[in-house]
Amino acid sequence: MQTNDIKNLIAQMTLEEKASLCSGLDFGHTKPIERLNIPALEMSDGPHGMRKQEQDANHLGVGDSIPAVCFPAGCASASSWDKNVLRMIGETLAKEYQAENVGVILGPAINIKRSPLCGRNFEYLSEDPFLSSELAAAYIQGVQSQNVGTSLKHFFANNQEYRRMTASSDVDERTMREIYLASFETAVKKGKPWTVMNSYNRVNGEYVGEDKKYLTDVLRGEWGFDGVVVSDWGAVNDRVKALAAGGDLEMPGSGGVNDALIVEAVKNGTLDEKIVDQAVERILTILYRFLDNRQQETFDRDKDHEIARQAEEESIVLLKNESGILPIREGTKVAVIGKYAKAPRYQGGGSSHVNSSRVSAALESLAQFTDVSFAEGFRDDKDETDEAMLAEAVQAATAADMAVIFAGLPDAFESEGYDRKHMRMPDCQNALIEAVCKVQPNTVVVLHNGAPVEMPWISRVKGVIEAYLGGQAVGAAVANVLTGKANPSGRLTETFPLRLEDTPCFLTFGGENERCAYGEGVFVGYRYYVSKKMPVLFPFGHGLSYTKFRYSNLSLDRAAMKDDETLTVSVDVENVGSVPGKEVVQLYVAPGKGSFTRPVRELKGFEKIELAPGEKKTVRFALDKRGFAVWDTRQHDWYVEDGDYAVQICKDAETVLLESNMRLSPVHPFIPAFTVNSTLGEIMRTEKGKTVLSAMQGSAPAQETAGMDGEFMAAIMDSMPLRWLVSFVPGFTWDAVNGIVYQLNH
Ligand code: BGC
Repeated sequence: MQTNDIKNLIAQMTLEEKASLCSGLDFGHTKPIERLNIPALEMSDGPHGMRKQEQDANHLGVGDSIPAVCFPAGCASASSWDKNVLRMIGETLAKEYQAENVGVILGPAINIKRSPLCGRNFEYLSEDPFLSSELAAAYIQGVQSQNVGTSLKHFFANNQEYRRMTASSDVDERTMREIYLASFETAVKKGKPWTVMNSYNRVNGEYVGEDKKYLTDVLRGEWGFDGVVVSDWGAVNDRVKALAAGGDLEMPGSGGVNDALIVEAVKNGTLDEKIVDQAVERILTILYRFLDNRQQETFDRDKDHEIARQAEEESIVLLKNESGILPIREGTKVAVIGKYAKAPRYQGGGSSHVNSSRVSAALESLAQFTDVSFAEGFRDDKDETDEAMLAEAVQAATAADMAVIFAGLPDAFESEGYDRKHMRMPDCQNALIEAVCKVQPNTVVVLHNGAPVEMPWISRVKGVIEAYLGGQAVGAAVANVLTGKANPSGRLTETFPLRLEDTPCFLTFGGENERCAYGEGVFVGYRYYVSKKMPVLFPFGHGLSYTKFRYSNLSLDRAAMKDDETLTVSVDVENVGSVPGKEVVQLYVAPGKGSFTRPVRELKGFEKIELAPGEKKTVRFALDKRGFAVWDTRQHDWYVEDGDYAVQICKDAETVLLESNMRLSPVHPFIPAFTVNSTLGEIMRTEKGKTVLSAMQGSAPAQETAGMDGEFMAAIMDSMPLRWLVSFVPGFTWDAVNGIVYQLNH
């Protein structure tokens, strides 16, 4: 349907009909208007599998949904660092939604992992906004290529579950732009999602869902979003205010209560009817975009299960591999220990919960490869050591050549709706790992968890595999990595700290009195650990392979540039090992010393490449202004300070492999207006300042400087405001100070 037809349709609608279209019929549908033949649009979760619920089903994964394929959750798929993987998941999922006549997937979920404790981190992609937003854009493109919409969520600064519906995330302007809004920005600009879901929380005291600054000015005005803003389910506080701010669709609806408020507000003149028309037009636009482009898809669950396996194989992170314990050689006698070898934990709780069509267990696949024994080892319904299970596991480990323990976090430890209290695994699992290590030096741990855990046993195990919540095919994927059929190529998209107390927001996470101060500012995740040179368990970007890569020939196509130019960076990467493998080439920018407080380095480019043994490829990156810029709160804009910047190719956020320096300068240098509070140092650093101040020499406080160390005095004078002259230089008047300010500014 064309825009004009939609406008005509709206012209035929009564105010009541229009208001009714701005909220849901039920949990997953907009309201149909039979009189005008307008059907309902169905939306369903997302993000990593279809949760199409039957009528009358309830929320939060409690009600049954139709069987579907559970793909790796965001924590896992993002670890692929591969846009193609995200695109593939998106495309496959969208075909399932087409087959089931569902028009919008409620995902991707891309809130920043501010603390490892957030209960929903398993759905989110990263602690880094660049990575998160690029991957989200690829997922969106994948889904929408099949004419199914996405709902980019939860916009924004929704980084904890504690009081998520009322808490205020108190974030300063620069942090907001560089971290929390940035995670959405590229996803909106490049991905062009059909809808954006506003989050439950408030930001700096205002509900995001009622704040025009974000829903309209930033999202639409600055980023060009042209879709529907939908409320998170039940996020609407003041419906009329939300609609005026740009909140088009209320979900799931309020049984008509809020629709009536819209009608009343239009009638009493407090809400312009044009705003209602605009929201209706946006909703109808995506409804007909879906309907007019229906594809006749069939939904082959087994085929999609294989895609889920492939995606997980690309995402598994090999964290430790001492003495090349992995891959397991054929014929090795392996004691497979742990409940999750048979019944993996592969998805999280809450609205993303999928009724999986089938689940693959690693035990089954491993048994086909080599000689295995099995012991369940622990229970995950309560954190208590079962002595008989422990003894059985120790015995199996003693009798084998090596032990592989499938451990992780039980369902109750992490979920939508609440945050974790600590970063530990259950005590009974830690005790099991310690006991097995005592009898079996060749022990490997496979982890099934949605967020970082402490690993008190790390020095006693030879290998660790992070499988995350890897979707329904996790078992087969893990077995392929363990046995070397697949070469691991996932990299961490978040830091694994040594202890919870080390995390940047340890002191403020959760907040108090419904306000959470984001006091660590832009120093989130590795930006904090690397800047403070703090040791961590595993850094952001870390991940091992069964082969080795050599980097050479880092080259920048220019040594200096203005901030309206684009830099091309290239680097050669060679597989110098004996098996094929994939490498994630990571590019970071490290600013030199400037006037802004900045992280030591920030990720600005990444590319995953596949290399056969002996093969070499050149990887190219383009870096424009945003690769170097900070958000300048004086200008309320991105700004590149004049100075030196290092372009670094890193193995992970801590390890620089190659680097090259360049000089950047802004096309429009920002020269703040001088005031009586400008410091003598600031003034003297400008040509004009030097001229003006040297003209007044003689009135300078010469007697005070006599006998004093020059450097000391210069340092003090550097931060002295101009107005100080009135107090300390005899005869200096306000007229003289104001005269200097005038001369400096003209
Ligand atoms: C969640 C959303 C989800 C929605 C619909 C909300 O509670 O926060 O992520 O899409 O429910 O199930």
